Amino acid sequence: MSEIKVNLKQNSYSIFVEKGIINQIPRMLKDKLNGQKWIIISQYNLMEIFGFKLLSEFNNEGFDVDYITTVNSENAKSMNEYNRIITQLFELGCDRSTVIIALGGGVIGDLAGFIASSFMRGVKYYQVPTTLLSMVDSSIGGKTGINIAEGKNLIGAIYQPSGVFIDPRLLDSLPKDEVVSGLGEVIKYGAIRDRKFLDKLSEWLDNMDEFPFEKAIEISVKIKAEIVSIDEKELGLRKILNFGHTIGHGLESTIGYGKIRHGEAVAMGILCSSWISKKFGILSNQEYDYLVGIINKLNLPKVSQINHETLLSFINKDKKKQNGIIQFILLNRLGEPIINKNVSENLILNSLKVLK
Ligand SMILES: NC(=O)c1ccc[n+]([C@@H]2O[C@H](COP(=O)([O-])OP(=O)(O)OC[C@H]3O[C@@H](n4cnc5c(N)ncnc54)[C@H](O)[C@@H]3O)[C@@H](O)[C@H]2O)c1
Ligand SMILES: [Zn+2]
Repeated sequence: MSEIKVNLKQNSYSIFVEKGIINQIPRMLKDKLNGQKWIIISQYNLMEIFGFKLLSEFNNEGFDVDYITTVNSENAKSMNEYNRIITQLFELGCDRSTVIIALGGGVIGDLAGFIASSFMRGVKYYQVPTTLLSMVDSSIGGKTGINIAEGKNLIGAIYQPSGVFIDPRLLDSLPKDEVVSGLGEVIKYGAIRDRKFLDKLSEWLDNMDEFPFEKAIEISVKIKAEIVSIDEKELGLRKILNFGHTIGHGLESTIGYGKIRHGEAVAMGILCSSWISKKFGILSNQEYDYLVGIINKLNLPKVSQINHETLLSFINKDKKKQNGIIQFILLNRLGEPIINKNVSENLILNSLKVLK
């Protein structure tokens, strides 16, 4: 079992990665048992695949445990679901000492994490991510939140979990497109931080049947944990994790949630940002071609006509969130990002041609 630490003084926690670890969670948490109520927040399909088994193992170890399910879509991250679940927590007799287990992908992690951050001014929670994207990204770093009509993730908190349990075996039931989406974020880590990891990914992606998920997750988690440990609140270094995300978020909003997955949009954003990096004369042609070659191994869905005005309006919304300046992440070379504040709208629109 590998244990990776996120070092944040009193908010420090461990991320455990091991095949089959889901069966060990109740035993590993037994020393935290203190007569309190434990609540698994998940989706019904996930309860059927592995949640009910986890629930019964918690029971066997003497935990007072219950579960709450929410809808199986991005709609789970809504005020309505938030209110409904808070009411249910009270009905189940939860209080300040309650511990929440978020069992699911990024949607569940973001919602359950936000509930944990605000229920009774904050209760402990653990992340048990079940998608590749949530294993390598959303379960780590404490960003939690829900969506409102004005936009995605606009209500939320940075609230760290007390631990993260990653079981790569849970990916066996994950649909292939969801795996590809997670790989978009995995490639991002190589591109911004670890050239050697990119070389490995390039090789591994040639044989998806043998893809060593556990290794790839471990390396990705180490990179994210290191960055979050240095800059929890995204005041500096953590911004590099947004590589591919300015255009990626724009594409996600323009094409429509549910029509393109987050990690797919990020992979496309990486293609565009790398092209812009090449245009600025910083990323070499050779390294650009190499990165494009790796992303092409994902066989991303083709995007049809993208409405330029809509895309720019979403990118400008993102800009407002960043005090009016887009801090665009570009690549000096593979593994070495820089922040650039002079990427014009024209250049962004021109970069879209690489998606055709
Ligand atoms: N907090 C962060 O730092 C952060 C970072 C990136 C993304 N996000 C958020 O994450 C969300 C996307 O998360 P996601 O990509 O994990 O998608 P998701 O949570 O919607 O899961 C995708 C689908 O896969 C199903 N599923 C999950 N695990 C499964 C498994 N093991 N077997 C079979 N089916 C399974 C789910 O029920 C769902 O239908 C977005 O809301 C995004 O905003 C948050
Ligand atoms: Zn992302």
